[in-house]
Amino acid sequence: MGSRREPAGASAAAPADVVKEILEEASRSGGFVSLSWFSSRYGLDARGAARLVDALKSGGLYVEYRPGEGGYYIPADDDLRLAGRLLAGVADVVFLESVESTMDVAWELARQGAPSWTVVVAEVQSRGRGRLGRRWVSEPGGLWFSVVLRTGRPAEDLRAFGVASGASVAESVRMLTGVDAWVKWPNDVMVGDAKVAGLLLETSCADGGCDAVLGCGINVNNPPPSVDRPATSLAVHAGARVPRPQLLRLVVARLKGLMAVFDESGPGPLAEYWASYTRMVGRRVRVSSAGEAFEGEVVGVGEDLSLLVRRGDGSVARVVEGDVELLP
Ligand code: BTN
Repeated sequence: MGSRREPAGASAAAPADVVKEILEEASRSGGFVSLSWFSSRYGLDARGAARLVDALKSGGLYVEYRPGEGGYYIPADDDLRLAGRLLAGVADVVFLESVESTMDVAWELARQGAPSWTVVVAEVQSRGRGRLGRRWVSEPGGLWFSVVLRTGRPAEDLRAFGVASGASVAESVRMLTGVDAWVKWPNDVMVGDAKVAGLLLETSCADGGCDAVLGCGINVNNPPPSVDRPATSLAVHAGARVPRPQLLRLVVARLKGLMAVFDESGPGPLAEYWASYTRMVGRRVRVSSAGEAFEGEVVGVGEDLSLLVRRGDGSVARVVEGDVELLP
């Protein structure tokens, strides 16, 4: 057993290194973390351990109290077949070994009347798709999923939700792995200057508002894909396999929380949430938008989630669609 120490702030949010240690212990012990381990590792009695576990739960982690066994069950397996059980009460999960694209399956389920928070997750996709008609490489070990969202909202509201979802992925990654993920406009998740995850929001709108399917691809335990831009995987930075069912639960629970904020207050708070996870301000970028390409420096993010880019002549462009490349 390592040296004893008190996990700082355990009663509020559990720090990532503590989460990581607990998951490592869970992984060594078939998912079981005993009260005696909490005591020897952190000097916590049963009430202190319960407070720490509450912080893990409020961060989105799946934890079961097992009083008869003297501790907690905290699944740390990287087996997507566990996803249905871990997300019970958060989402209805459809797990498939192999699909062309989870987007297509989610749209088909939506057409058949599936409710919001139906999540389709697959081990492998043979025709994964990304933004701007790009292919999305989806090999085993990654986390590839789509979420049915019956928003009833007009189309212009939904962009904020798609963008803010990237921040919820970044936050979940930080909590579970300690990896310093951040969001790049509009909705890529990065580690350093390499992309680790991408989000794709597809919508179908009628008089009553829009249905949407949010697709999320995270390179987790798969090798970084060979694509034309720098890409990475979480396991490379975390130094260990990352339990995908727990990551899926964290991301979907956050998305659900965001959706509730969105329903209550509209896109404004989501814009702030997103802005707190970006690192683009001050960076030089190449923008391709509405048939135009230019270089400039990012000076901020607008309330409408446009990216504000100062051109060489001093004018500031509001970028609302397209693609942005970080320059060295
Ligand atoms: C992007 O960055 O271009 C968005 C990538 C979105 C990929 C995910 S993987 C799960 C879902 N199914 C797909 O075919 N695409 C999305």
